[in-house]
Amino acid sequence: MGAAAVALLVGLLAGLLTRHASAGTSDPATGGNATTNSTSRPNIVFIMTDDQDKRLYSTDYQPVLQRELVAKGTNFTNHYTTQALCCPARSSMLRGQQTHNTNITNVVKPGGSYNKWVLSGQDTDYLPHWMNAAGYRTEYIGKVMNGYGVSNYNVTPKGWDHVDGLLEPYIDDYNVPIWSANGDKPVYYPGWHQTDVTRLKALDRLDVLTNQSDPFLLTITPFTPHVAYEQGNPSSRPIPLQRHMEQFLNATAPQTPNFNPAAAYQTQKSGWLQYLLPMNDSAVDFADFVYQSRLQALQGIDEIIEDVVAMLEAKGVVDNTYIIYTSDNGYHLGQHRVPGGKSLFYNEDTNIPFVVRGPSVPQGVVSTLPSLHLDLAPTFLSIAGLNASSAAWPPFFDGRSLLDQWQAPLVNNATGAGHGNSREALNIEYWGLVGIEAPSGPELGGSYYNNTYKTIRIVGDEQNWAYAVWCNGQTELYNISADPYELTNLARADNVSAEHQRVINRLNALLMVTKSCEQERCRDPWAQLVPDSNSSSSSSSTTDTVLYSLVQALDEAYDSFFADFETVQFDTCMQYQWADNETPFFPPLDTLDGGGLGRAWRNETVDIAASPGTRSIQTPNYYGTAAQRNATFAQMDAASRYMTEAEIAATIG
Ligand SMILES: *[C@@H]1O[C@H](CO)[C@@H](O)[C@H](O)[C@H]1NC(C)=O
Ligand SMILES: *[C@@H]1O[C@H](CO)[C@@H](O)[C@H](O)[C@H]1NC(C)=O
Ligand SMILES: *[C@@H]1O[C@H](CO)[C@@H](O)[C@H](O)[C@H]1NC(C)=O
Ligand SMILES: *[C@@H]1O[C@H](CO)[C@@H](O)[C@H](O)[C@H]1NC(C)=O
Ligand SMILES: *[C@@H]1O[C@H](CO)[C@@H](O)[C@H](O)[C@H]1NC(C)=O
Ligand SMILES: *[C@@H]1O[C@H](CO)[C@@H](O)[C@H](O)[C@H]1NC(C)=O
Ligand SMILES: *[C@@H]1O[C@H](CO)[C@@H](O)[C@H](O)[C@H]1NC(C)=O
Ligand SMILES: *[C@@H]1O[C@H](CO)[C@@H](O)[C@H](O)[C@H]1NC(C)=O
Ligand SMILES: *[C@@H]1O[C@H](CO)[C@@H](O)[C@H](O)[C@H]1NC(C)=O
Ligand SMILES: *[C@@H]1O[C@H](CO)[C@@H](O)[C@H](O)[C@H]1NC(C)=O
Ligand SMILES: *[C@@H]1O[C@H](CO)[C@@H](O)[C@H](O)[C@H]1NC(C)=O
Ligand SMILES: *[C@@H]1O[C@H](CO)[C@@H](O)[C@H](O)[C@H]1NC(C)=O
Repeated sequence: MGAAAVALLVGLLAGLLTRHASAGTSDPATGGNATTNSTSRPNIVFIMTDDQDKRLYSTDYQPVLQRELVAKGTNFTNHYTTQALCCPARSSMLRGQQTHNTNITNVVKPGGSYNKWVLSGQDTDYLPHWMNAAGYRTEYIGKVMNGYGVSNYNVTPKGWDHVDGLLEPYIDDYNVPIWSANGDKPVYYPGWHQTDVTRLKALDRLDVLTNQSDPFLLTITPFTPHVAYEQGNPSSRPIPLQRHMEQFLNATAPQTPNFNPAAAYQTQKSGWLQYLLPMNDSAVDFADFVYQSRLQALQGIDEIIEDVVAMLEAKGVVDNTYIIYTSDNGYHLGQHRVPGGKSLFYNEDTNIPFVVRGPSVPQGVVSTLPSLHLDLAPTFLSIAGLNASSAAWPPFFDGRSLLDQWQAPLVNNATGAGHGNSREALNIEYWGLVGIEAPSGPELGGSYYNNTYKTIRIVGDEQNWAYAVWCNGQTELYNISADPYELTNLARADNVSAEHQRVINRLNALLMVTKSCEQERCRDPWAQLVPDSNSSSSSSSTTDTVLYSLVQALDEAYDSFFADFETVQFDTCMQYQWADNETPFFPPLDTLDGGGLGRAWRNETVDIAASPGTRSIQTPNYYGTAAQRNATFAQMDAASRYMTEAEIAATIG
């Protein structure tokens, strides 16, 4: 069916003018004045799924992703989010900043939410505004941010030339798709599955965008494979399109070495994790069922990729378009005994799929060069032709452009940020509660627990570590090279070897830098740690030593410098980032412009409004039929209707 669908689409589009050939014609979207440019800057199609794992092999089950993006582009295996939760990951990506600087640190207030994003003023100064200023047309289709819904749909996400967003509380009911385009009243698509609506909307806009001559950024953010609301009840799986429900019925959740581990390992964990009971057979069966549902649901994503690539090909612009595929954060299913969910610093949750196809990006290459979501905004700006010296380059970026690394993905200087193409130290953080995404019960989860922590992760050729400090004071250290599944906690208080204490001392100091870093201090944290001459012995005799990697920092000449460093700590477990709860800081916050933590570039957020929502529309049906695979946007649009005033009132209460 895939190949047939491509053939159909290409057939429909055959003979149409290409984007370059049509340059100079009027722009149907803006009503005129498209600029002729036969050497146009590249377009960007950014596809970001929701809660898709890399480490549970979900992408192996997406044949179109494999054929069109992995085989024709570069697969970056060390791409990370710095916070494994939707709203923080998305706002961090859109601002090019760490979440301690956006202070969008959870999905609900006071940590986060769409209303907090707007109140902070960050929505007046982020990616689409910058891309617009650089001459790009910017459009957005899909999930916006947690808390954007029927209660505040008319607080239109700013900056986009066109934005069509999924609305809460219906966003997690795949069979009740309700959207708002550019702040217009909520539109309901009865009889349609959300993933088909997302696909047809994206294609409809891509048709417009490829008919005009400005370069464009099209962001497509499907809600799939996030857990759903299903037939009147919260579910703990995504709901696939009806036409995919018979696939993968024999698939089982990968029982990785850290799946449902023995007590000897589990009791080495911290916080709420150390008390989890083993998953019983019901929980293991449920993980299999969820895994099957996720693979089924992702077939709808493969159809989006298939149709997007087919249209770019038919319009003749595929070779001048970067197509980026990723997820906001990862997912675990039974790893470390957690039946389902995200929010942890372990690799399953933070290391995510990341594939790039586009101009000068080598085909069929696998690269281990690390990168972060917060590098994407600078990367898109550099695709638009800007650089860090440009007046239009935002001053507050914590990330850096990945464009060189995309175009030379096998060049690895391996010496850390600021030194060539590689980045070694990744800051990963979290504030607030965590919910286990599985039915309630001691073996199946469902409760909410304190999950505030700070982590530094070293990703390198020689050294790979994760070091975490929890809000209750417990710590974890994993030697990822020897223990890739993060089972043996080397930081247990009663059993820390001298060798591991030396590593902890270095990683603690590095985390002291990254937990509050801004700008260059995030890109090159080692350079902030300057051992004085007194602590150096024979191997380094100057006072201006600049560190740039863990290998180098492990020199025993620096032992006392690192042993004496102030330590990362919390006063108590809070649900949001309160600076006084997290002292000390390095450098001290009062020595920084605006008080640090990004506060120079955002406003205070007091009295964040709630986003009420009660479902007034429900359906017992499953949509996404076989025939709907070939339906047109016009057919879907004809079936749509505005929500009634009564339905809106009943929703927002
Ligand atoms: C189109 O160009 C004309 C002449 O340069 C200008 O007066 C007009 O404002 C432009 N229209 C738009 C929509 O940019
Ligand atoms: C065409 O695009 C290139 C690359 O961005 C730019 O350098 C050039 O100035 C543009 N030419 C015109 C006529 O806009
Ligand atoms: C990228 O390569 C890694 C290592 O081979 C593999 O595990 C991963 O599934 C690949 N990603 C995709 C999207 O295929
Ligand atoms: C913060 O608020 C002030 C006053 O309302 C406003 O001028 C400024 O633009 C805001 N800053 C940000 C980053 O939103
Ligand atoms: C794009 O251009 C083609 C060829 O002119 C036309 O058939 C199609 O309707 C256009 N699409 C839009 C959305 O304007
Ligand atoms: C599942 O496995 C059984 C037995 O191996 C096989 O008969 C059946 O076709 C498989 N079902 C699917 C959906 O692959
Ligand atoms: C950066 O952009 C400026 C113009 O904004 C340009 O003069 C300079 O050459 C660019 N630098 C690099 C390294 O491309
Ligand atoms: C390492 O990085 C430097 C500076 O960016 C660059 O000049 C050099 O070519 C790189 N080395 C390799 C082997 O790529
Ligand atoms: C597993 O635990 C759940 C929750 O306590 C319970 O409902 C279920 O019966 C158990 N399953 C088995 C196979 O023991
Ligand atoms: C989280 O920790 C705080 C501080 O120790 C405590 O007051 C609160 O009850 C905890 N919340 C949960 C859900 O455990
Ligand atoms: C983060 O947001 C919370 C809630 O609005 C606020 O109380 C806190 O002061 C903020 N933290 C920082 C560092 O701005
Ligand atoms: C969709 O269209 C293709 C190409 O015409 C056709 O081969 C396929 O059977 C159609 N699928 C359905 C379910 O109608």
